[in-house]
Amino acid sequence: MKILAIETSCDDTAVAILEEKKGKFKMLSNVVSSQTIHQNYGGVFPMMAKREHQANLVPVLMRALKQAELEKSKSKTLNPKQIQNLKKILEKESELYEKLLKFLQMHEKPKVDAIAVTHGPGLEPCLWVGVNLARALSYIWNIPLIPVNHIEAHILVNFLENPKIKFPALCLVVSGGHTQLILMKKIGSYKIIGETRDDAAGECFDKCAKILGLGYPGGPIIFKIASKIKESNIKLPRPMINSKDYDFSFSGLKTAVLYKVRDAKVDEKFVGEMSIEIQQAIIDVLLKKTLQAAKDFKAKTIILGGGVSANQKLRKQFTKKSDIQVIFPDPKFSTDNALMIAIVAYFNRTRKKRWQSVKANANLRVGS
Ligand code: KG4
Ligand code: ZN
Repeated sequence: MKILAIETSCDDTAVAILEEKKGKFKMLSNVVSSQTIHQNYGGVFPMMAKREHQANLVPVLMRALKQAELEKSKSKTLNPKQIQNLKKILEKESELYEKLLKFLQMHEKPKVDAIAVTHGPGLEPCLWVGVNLARALSYIWNIPLIPVNHIEAHILVNFLENPKIKFPALCLVVSGGHTQLILMKKIGSYKIIGETRDDAAGECFDKCAKILGLGYPGGPIIFKIASKIKESNIKLPRPMINSKDYDFSFSGLKTAVLYKVRDAKVDEKFVGEMSIEIQQAIIDVLLKKTLQAAKDFKAKTIILGGGVSANQKLRKQFTKKSDIQVIFPDPKFSTDNALMIAIVAYFNRTRKKRWQSVKANANLRVGS
């Protein structure tokens, strides 16, 4: 079976095509266009991101189809009723409507069995662009839709390289929008056992980088600077590290960074020492809580996912300190991509939906 997947929950516009044969996955294409406009602001503005998704989606879709050798040019006339309905589906995304209409009039329906789309959680206006594109394609091409939870996708992308994961598994999803500890009994069975009470771990990296004047996204920049430094004389707090639950809090760490910056001479040495200490403070808390939860719930595997799990230092320390197997995706699948959406859709392949019933849900949670 072939699945075309769309992801637009935050600031990456992504389309991928996955082929599955006898339970084996083959990536036919995986195109991610990361919006650079947010670098100027140190964070993502939803309406700006929505505009970028509208401009990028059709070119990204075309690249994904081409790479998968599923793009077939042919002049195709849509009838007036189809055009009217298309316009209605995309009434809040008029720029996308114009581009999509042109695309549909110049291309054949590709040979795919399902269209998968992230319907939550994420930034509401961004989610709707992807969902409405998926609805429009589903309507015109008559291909069923499979809505996908973005957090589940960050977990299940690990099955690409590890088809035989031992359960129960303890999943740590750490991204720009989420920090959650999830107990997974099997594919499709999830329970959130802890999460951040304020900022997500990635958000903390991003906000600290902004305070230090380093640019966006902060995680990879802080990692790069920290890699060149051996040790730090700066000490930052590890919020909630000793609390008896599995929750996190990162806003205090950001505030501590703000105070240190206010009182210091911000030179290269200071930024280097701050970077390594910020990174280590975040890793220490994530590691302690995850290992504790894995022990308490007798987990057989620890699964990492989300943008922050691309961090090499975090990966190394988890692998070193854990007695059970730690699994993480290739870094290009840790950050947002559409291949992970296609993988979840494959596992949920019996849950195909009519396009009319698929809606965005910014606050969607796994296990509920
Ligand atoms: O999963 P993701 O691509 O998007 C969301 O769903 O939010 O995660 C993006 C987050 C950003 O906050 C970014 O700073 C962080 O992941 N990130 C990293 C690294 N690469 C991306 N954080 C630490 N180290 C990295 N190497
Ligand atoms: Zn994500």
